[in-house]
Amino acid sequence: ADALKIGVAGLGTVGASLVRILQQRANALTVACGRPIRVTAVTARDATKDRGILMDGIAWYADPSEMAEKADIDVFVELIGGAEGAAERSVRAALTRGLHVVTANKALLSRHGVELAKIAEQKSRLLNYEAAVAGGIPVIKTLRESLTGNNFTRIYGIMNGTCNYILTRMEREGLSFADCLKEAQRLGYAEADPSFDIEGNDTAHKLSILTTLAFGCEISADKIYLEGITNISIEDIHAAADLGYRIKLLGVAQKTESGIEQRVHPTMVPLDSVIAQVDGVTNAVALESDILGELLMVGPGAGGNATASAVLGDITDIAKSRPGAQDVPVLGRPAHLLEPYRQAE
Ligand code: NAP
Ligand code: HSE
Repeated sequence: ADALKIGVAGLGTVGASLVRILQQRANALTVACGRPIRVTAVTARDATKDRGILMDGIAWYADPSEMAEKADIDVFVELIGGAEGAAERSVRAALTRGLHVVTANKALLSRHGVELAKIAEQKSRLLNYEAAVAGGIPVIKTLRESLTGNNFTRIYGIMNGTCNYILTRMEREGLSFADCLKEAQRLGYAEADPSFDIEGNDTAHKLSILTTLAFGCEISADKIYLEGITNISIEDIHAAADLGYRIKLLGVAQKTESGIEQRVHPTMVPLDSVIAQVDGVTNAVALESDILGELLMVGPGAGGNATASAVLGDITDIAKSRPGAQDVPVLGRPAHLLEPYRQAE
């Protein structure tokens, strides 16, 4: 069968891990998907940097939009980041050209997800984004595909690996907030601008996407009550422990009679609860629904390989999909049928 040709925009923590995995596991992936997956184009800012990638047969582009418009590819994989700028322009260009798109960019989706979904659906192309929420945990596919037919009542969890890593190391090792954040950046967990992590915006972006999938409404990140972890001290963490609690940054979305309530804030969770045991970069997402009951998914929430694993799953889904097959709507229901967001009073 014909190879699926991939263009990767962004070769940082996630993009470089992804290309290395695609190259190292090429034979196994061909067997699993029934066709080869070949990286044929890449783009990043610095053309001179060694990223541990074999560049034979790969075209280098200086501009992501040019790659989206002209490269010989079937799938545009956006791993640049940011709600606007190069990421937004190139994803829009790729969808408009009729390419499939895979992205890990929750900031972009929380701002432009509905319009981008409309373009993808008009063009009958896939827009996959498993890595955008909770790193390697397959929560998008679970909500979008496995639990179709359930009515969701509440979704909550630890959705930012950087914050959970900081809170865990402050408590266990008595390290300062600043040192823990520096280490999270060194390990590739943090956003390019880490204030998005520690001030809660990243959790809000992810929560807004899950809210749309669970409750069928338009994405609304700007309505979320937001409080990050920058004011949490070691004294607060110890005081909570003395009372039998651990502090976690939670995102919570629930349906109420008057509308949807979404909030992100540090929360005291009982020490004997499962969520209190979720340590380090690990994330946890709880989905409460009427048919299934409560499902708790726990796993790696950030980092190159964990995130690349989710991106790879999105790519292999495209490689395995057959032309004419019924596509899953990008946001759980066709974008033009999403309900207006109704904020709880
Ligand atoms: P990163 O390490 O900062 O990498 C960003 C890449 O984008 C770099 O290779 C950079 O090029 C390239 N880039 C930036 N601006 C560009 C432009 N104008 N044109 C071309 N290339 C450009 O970021 P990351 O951690 O891999 O994250 C990528 C995306 O995945 C973000 O949306 C992030 O939120 C999301 N994500 C990350 C994680 C994680 O654990 N890191 C987990 C889940 C989702 P240079 O290398 O040349 O500077
Ligand atoms: N900066 C994010 C985090 C990356 O720490 O959770 C994963 O989305």
